[in-house]
Amino acid sequence: MPRWRKVLLIPVIALIGSMAPAAATDRDLHAYWDGRCKDCHGDSGAFARRTLRVEDGRLVGTHHRATLEQFLHNHYLADDLVAPVMQMLQAQAAASPVFKEQCGQCHGSASEFARKSLAMKDGTLTGRASQRPVQDYLRRHGGLAPEQVAPMVKTLERVLGEVGGTP
Ligand code: HEC
Ligand code: HEC
Repeated sequence: MPRWRKVLLIPVIALIGSMAPAAATDRDLHAYWDGRCKDCHGDSGAFARRTLRVEDGRLVGTHHRATLEQFLHNHYLADDLVAPVMQMLQAQAAASPVFKEQCGQCHGSASEFARKSLAMKDGTLTGRASQRPVQDYLRRHGGLAPEQVAPMVKTLERVLGEVGGTP
């Protein structure tokens, strides 16, 4: 290949690379919410529980029942984020606020905690500082009843995914 073509091609490839949409996994939905939606709606979890419901497996708004998805396409959201944000809100609408009530006074919001302190290690949710599986850690920490531990681990795994922290 002539030298001038190589010189031209490299910046073109770099440009295409930088325009490619970020993979779903390195996207932080909670940061996105906090930057674009929080001013009007407050915390996403509280908003979801207050105004949204899951009916027949579908997310339904108080005002926008059948048409929530169309509404969101015209409501401050980048098109490719409508589906992941709806998924996040749906999980939040269905979840009880255990983290907020029993862990939040020490750990802040679940998304902050997940970003700072959690990671997936060989498919297991693990504390970054303790290097211990969260499932084990919570048996003697946090005051959860034994049957609340597995659902909490699931919630935290979901939140870690929502902040872009799972592979
Ligand atoms: C400037 C203020 C503002 C911003 C920013 C904003 N919203 Fe809204 N949102 C509203 C208002 C006002 C309504 C209710 C109006 C309506 O239902 O038509 C609403 C309604 C909604 C509803 C439907 C609630 C229902 O009861 O049906 C959802 C879901 C929603 N917003 C999500 C978001 C998301 C996600 C973002 C960020 C990407 C966002 N909003 C940003 C003001 C805002
Ligand atoms: C009274 C304060 C407090 C409450 C309430 C609390 N924690 Fe903690 N948690 C801590 C502190 C402090 C640490 C740091 C480790 C240590 O020094 O014990 C920690 C550590 C952790 C870790 C390990 C993090 C790592 O990096 O290894 C996990 C996981 C955890 N907490 C989950 C929870 C969950 C889930 C709840 C609620 C059910 C909860 N905690 C409630 C104070 C608290």
